[in-house]
Amino acid sequence: MADRVRVAVLISGRGSNMVALAEHKRRDPTRTYDIALIASNVPEARGLVVAKRLGLKSWAKSHVGLSREGFDAELDVVLHEHKIELVALAGYMRLLSPGFVDTWSGRLLNIHPSLLPAHRGLDTHRRALMAGDEFAGCSVHLVTADLDAGPVLAQEKVRILPRDDAESLAARVLEAEHRLYPVALEEYCRLIAGASLPRLPDRS
Ligand code: GAR
Repeated sequence: MADRVRVAVLISGRGSNMVALAEHKRRDPTRTYDIALIASNVPEARGLVVAKRLGLKSWAKSHVGLSREGFDAELDVVLHEHKIELVALAGYMRLLSPGFVDTWSGRLLNIHPSLLPAHRGLDTHRRALMAGDEFAGCSVHLVTADLDAGPVLAQEKVRILPRDDAESLAARVLEAEHRLYPVALEEYCRLIAGASLPRLPDRS
């Protein structure tokens, strides 16, 4: 693997975490990763417009009408074409097929807006408030077959304030996400650039 890891960022919506990853890299080009592709299952995703403005390569295709396996197989081909070595999910709101997760095992990161293992899945901020938690936060983790259950690489806590509603809490957690994800991605890329992860299958 080269010194800098070629990363694809997968988005489905506004893409603010994608921007945070790209900005971190722009501020210091010697970072351990290159953002080589932005990919989306939602062609009208707002983040794609931003990616274009930032001069990032992008690919989008709607998953509607395709099986999960069929869509992921197409995505996998595109990732291979762009020589991607690591996939960073950033608000990618679609479950991945077991085959895809297996192929990219150890090379698939996600950011989740809770302190995992608390509040896996959706609607995390409302659930943290309902549970009376003292802290919310975000987690960067490796993706495995079970939803939001892979090993946690990094977390940042956010104190829940008495006046918080789901929206105000989500906004502060998002700021924490933007700090955490770039640093966690950079650290992980440093780790795998020098390590011998299983080779990706040669699909040429
Ligand atoms: C982020 O809060 C991210 O943690 C969350 O979606 C939002 C995407 O925002 N992801 C999940 O809930 C995944 N389970 P963004 O598109 O502005 O980065």
